Amino acid sequence: MREVAIVAAGMTRFGELWESSLRDLFADAALEALRAARTDRVDSIVVGCMAPGQFVGQEHLGPLMADQLGMAGVAATRVESACASGGVALRTAFLEVASGMSDLVLAAGVEKMNDGADVTAVLATAADQETEAYHGITFPGLYAMIARAHMQAKGTTEEDLAWVAVKNHRHGALNPKAQFGREVKLEDVMCSSMVSDPLRLLHCSPVTDGAAALLLCPLDQAKKYTDRPVKIRASGLATSTMALADRKDPAFLDAVELAGQRAYKMAGLAPQDVQVAEVHDCFTIAEVCCIEALGFVEKCGGRHAARTGETALGGRIPVNTSGGLKSKGHPVGATGVAQVIEIFEQLRGEAGERQVKGARIGLAQNMGGSGASSVVHILEGV
Ligand code: COA
Repeated sequence: MREVAIVAAGMTRFGELWESSLRDLFADAALEALRAARTDRVDSIVVGCMAPGQFVGQEHLGPLMADQLGMAGVAATRVESACASGGVALRTAFLEVASGMSDLVLAAGVEKMNDGADVTAVLATAADQETEAYHGITFPGLYAMIARAHMQAKGTTEEDLAWVAVKNHRHGALNPKAQFGREVKLEDVMCSSMVSDPLRLLHCSPVTDGAAALLLCPLDQAKKYTDRPVKIRASGLATSTMALADRKDPAFLDAVELAGQRAYKMAGLAPQDVQVAEVHDCFTIAEVCCIEALGFVEKCGGRHAARTGETALGGRIPVNTSGGLKSKGHPVGATGVAQVIEIFEQLRGEAGERQVKGARIGLAQNMGGSGASSVVHILEGV
């Protein structure tokens, strides 16, 4: 396998972007990446998108997006793994470059959720239809059950979870591209309206439009495009049971642990080698479970991390310096790529007020559904 580098990135603002269509969002992010690399051609395009057919009535994104970039003829395809679609698009592009099949690949993620669709129903298609969604459960409902199980098994409190929102909004307030770039206080979270007990409005990621794009090439060709490439040290993908009720422990995200273990093994690294991480905080409880499964804290230690500042900027292992899905926003298909962009910028020393000083190794973890799929990438500044 060849060594693979990320050489450029582009990303739209995240939010309710009524004035932009799905293809506009994709093109804005992709063109920013292409301009940064001073190129107007790629060998292949991989688009991560969860549900364009249901959100905006548009399928067949490979040729659509290639055409939108004026590149009709190029190899292009869409990949889907629910909210992990972006991370899986990056993995697909990584494998394509690593295998020697292509030299320059655009890995992008996009989603337009604010266009009139019944968002909760569309998202629920990523749950098990027969045993979960059919009976009326929603994603806030599934993560509320994970939160209850975590509370029962590990003593986690609603306030522990609220600290995750406070921390991530504090980070997001430093990110000009965040949907909710404002701080919230603990009492704001604790008093926000109940969505699915114990998860309140400010425990949830929002409904978001946005796109993000990365350009990948072999490491030994990276200097053609940038002075500061970032190497992809590892990619790990894993699955778990679709239905939450079928898991041995509903308070533990085993696909996240497995994807992390595969990535650590491939990179020859351990959790303590990681200096900055983006994890999939679609709900506050998800961040607590992910940092436990990735080994950043003890298996019962996730609940304290945000409150003590361990996972805040300046802490032992800063998590979700971008603001995370909670504050930056969660355009589901774009999220996994946007997470890697935050790590890419951190490892190049370009994260501005969010910069983690001296960060050299970073990790991004993206997740589908209630944790039935998860993908982990480990990156290194070179
Ligand atoms: N965090 C912070 N503020 C939020 C928010 C969020 N997640 N969602 C909405 N808001 C704000 C809005 O900006 C709005 O503020 P305003 O009154 O000052 O304009 C207010 O709250 C009400 O917004 P609205 O769009 O009416 O909220 P809603 O009740 O329709 O939706 C949720 C709120 C939490 C139900 C919705 O964001 C949601 O479903 N989130 C989860 C998405 C999800 O499941 N993703 C997949 C994860 S696996």
